[in-house]
Amino acid sequence: MRLNTLEDLFLRELQGLYDVENQLVKALPQMADKSSSTELQNAIREHYEQTKNQVRRLEQVFENLGYKAKAEKSEGIRGIISEGEDMSDMEGEPAAIDAGIIAAAQKVEHFEIAGYGTVCSYAKTLGHEQALHLLKQSLEEEKTADRKLTELAERLVNIDAVRSAGGQARTEF
Ligand SMILES: [Fe+2]
Repeated sequence: MRLNTLEDLFLRELQGLYDVENQLVKALPQMADKSSSTELQNAIREHYEQTKNQVRRLEQVFENLGYKAKAEKSEGIRGIISEGEDMSDMEGEPAAIDAGIIAAAQKVEHFEIAGYGTVCSYAKTLGHEQALHLLKQSLEEEKTADRKLTELAERLVNIDAVRSAGGQARTEF
């Protein structure tokens, strides 16, 4: 597609986000399964439910604007998900691996916050009030998910506990 106007760019960004959310619907259940902490599993599963709703919200935005819902491949999210998978497949202390999963999940959230922040500002400029209202809801959900992960990381990832796992200081962590 050609990018000539802000409307074109808005559509292109929406298509990218549509791919992001669909990739996450596939990836989040595995991420939850690989987490050791029940709290982390629950947080990821809760966000999985939100993510499915975010896919529907984007479909509503496409529909409201008279566009066909279409995904434009996002290499960025694929890279972040793949790094997260590498992390969760590693051998080691469950607390350290959970910390790695939280780090990957937060990278996902920050990527999405950037994406939704962009489309919200475009929707505002273009006067797409209904789209703005919907996209803002997803933006807020991503921000809340990010904050929850930070809280979880602070509570779960007691670095001292990880360091002394097995009763030995682990200088490599
Ligand atoms: Fe999302």
